[in-house]
Amino acid sequence: MLEPGEVIARTEEYVRSALAGDRTGHDWWHVDRVRRLALRLGRDEGADEFVVELAALLHDLDDAKFSNSETASAAAAAAWLETLELDKQLVDDVVSIIAGVSFAGEATPDQALSIEGECVRDADRLDALGAIGIGRAFAYGGFSGRDMHNPHVGPHSGMTRSVYRSTESTTINHFYEKLLLLRERMATSTGRRLAEQRHQKTKAFLDEFLKEWNGAD
Ligand code: ADP
Ligand code: NI
Repeated sequence: MLEPGEVIARTEEYVRSALAGDRTGHDWWHVDRVRRLALRLGRDEGADEFVVELAALLHDLDDAKFSNSETASAAAAAAWLETLELDKQLVDDVVSIIAGVSFAGEATPDQALSIEGECVRDADRLDALGAIGIGRAFAYGGFSGRDMHNPHVGPHSGMTRSVYRSTESTTINHFYEKLLLLRERMATSTGRRLAEQRHQKTKAFLDEFLKEWNGAD
């Protein structure tokens, strides 16, 4: 059986090469930030740090937006973990976290997760908020050829998973359709505190953007 440190080192190397060159918001540095944040939350919660780190590293290997299956990331993680011949319970714990991380629309409730899973999910969502989250949203919008803003296209509310996945929206609408909803969905206490700060920064940016757009600055 491999030592935990060796499992992490091999997984990190694998994920780095698998995500190299990604421009969809799931590049290696997103994964690295989520790993560091998830470990920070995990320490505050007394979570199993090995499970937290492994799940964080593998959480975006494949993404539902770019494949037909909502469970593609979990399947890709399972396939990798299989090659390491780990304890079956550990693999199941990590894979079920990855299957429950995604935000999939306002009307799609979050799955119940282990405390380790809550740390990874909170960390992933924190990286969608604040200065970095704003940067990622515009990078993603540019990558997918979307308008930054269109005053004639308003945000949708109450989206289900399939509507959320299939609706083309502007980057500014994404703030209303996802980013500003995340604060209410935090599960850990440190996550809630950081989300509150990042929410305020995100909201302040949005207000400023619309003020300038409308000539009200
Ligand atoms: P995560 O890695 O947090 O699960 P997603 O896979 O939903 O995030 O998206 C990757 C990044 O792209 C996130 O920062 C997210 O906010 C952003 N993003 C996703 N959909 C859109 C969109 N329609 N417009 C702008 N940004 C988006
Ligand atoms: Ni992610």
